[in-house]
Amino acid sequence: MKWLSFSVIALLSLPVCASQVEVLHWWTSGGEARAVEVLKSEWAEQGNQWNDFAVQGGGGKSAMTVLKSRALAANPPEAAHLKGFELHEWGSLGFLRDLTPMAEHLGWYPQLPPMVRDTLSQNGALMAVPTGIHRVNWLWLNRKVFERQGLKPPTDWAQFVAVADKLKEQGITPLAIGNEPWQIAVLFETVALGEGGKTFYRKAFLEQDSATLTGPDMVRVLTRFQQLRAYVPEKYAGLKWHQATNLLESGGAAMQVMGDWVKGELSAGNYRPGEDIECLPSPGSQGLFSYNLDSIAMFKQRDPAQLQAQGELAQLLMTPRFQQEFNRVKGSIPALTKPDMSKFDRCAIRSYQDFLLAEREGNLLPSMAEGMATPTNMRQGIMDVLSNFFNDPRANPQQTALHLERAMRSTR
Ligand code: GAL
Repeated sequence: MKWLSFSVIALLSLPVCASQVEVLHWWTSGGEARAVEVLKSEWAEQGNQWNDFAVQGGGGKSAMTVLKSRALAANPPEAAHLKGFELHEWGSLGFLRDLTPMAEHLGWYPQLPPMVRDTLSQNGALMAVPTGIHRVNWLWLNRKVFERQGLKPPTDWAQFVAVADKLKEQGITPLAIGNEPWQIAVLFETVALGEGGKTFYRKAFLEQDSATLTGPDMVRVLTRFQQLRAYVPEKYAGLKWHQATNLLESGGAAMQVMGDWVKGELSAGNYRPGEDIECLPSPGSQGLFSYNLDSIAMFKQRDPAQLQAQGELAQLLMTPRFQQEFNRVKGSIPALTKPDMSKFDRCAIRSYQDFLLAEREGNLLPSMAEGMATPTNMRQGIMDVLSNFFNDPRANPQQTALHLERAMRSTR
């Protein structure tokens, strides 16, 4: 307990001087960068210094590779955006600072919704602080394009296909998406939720049940998923998620299926979420909420000044004011209980209401595509199978279901 009293006393009593932190993240698109600015400026307001360690690439794959090499060189940053299973994997390897003493001393636990507390805890210890809750199962659509074509927003995948065919006939790209495996995984996940439903999703990705992974529901989900390949943009190869969003904004594409970081991008480009660009639950997933909890973890340090800086950053992240300002820009909702939502846009308010309802009804589902549902290796295996399948028009759904099950079993 020596350590506990040291860190808490250090946090509360060191003389006031500028604290420095280096923070790794991949929030580099227009909207994401604006959200990081909120954090940087609140940190600077306290007289502190921010050393930005931003690594490009949505989904964070490159950021994680860079982080590994820094950690292997015994020089990790003080803090990093680590979430879901990745967070737990770094925790098990002994790299992360246990934030439990701070949480207990500062009374954080009652402020964390149960899902947030569970996701961030490992063997009862708090391994990170949350920055916001993203919802993944969203359908974004360009309202003007829909009005001009006299189309109604699809509420299931059969309707989606019907609408997409009409758009295509008019020469409009139905679905804004790029060929990155994680974007494809997001699309697949929403099809799994909408066509397969909650129980299917749980059995397949949380329980990794072989019969479900190879059964008729999976084949149906894969068949539907494969159909969507016909609706991607001409410049699908290499299109980043935020470039896909730009296509949606300009009316170059009619819809995008993506988490609500899209919203950060919209406001960065002066498009009103919920007005110019409509936000709806992805087809067939009404009432379900697949979540992606963003969080920041602290790497173990010896230097008291670094420990102090980490403590201050964690405290800042936990303030309702920061959570409100940051998430308004980022597109997510605060990860603390009873947030003040009065200044948020329509889509965030809808997300929050749906979150509460899903929480009550057992409909909160960890996002597979965002690393909340399976270990990182398994997610990688799933993404490989899905992106090969999606990009090969001759691939067979039955066989792919078997590949998927095998890929998951071999990484269990
Ligand atoms: C997610 C991350 C989000 C986000 C998105 C796109 O993995 O959790 O915060 O912005 O990638 O970069």
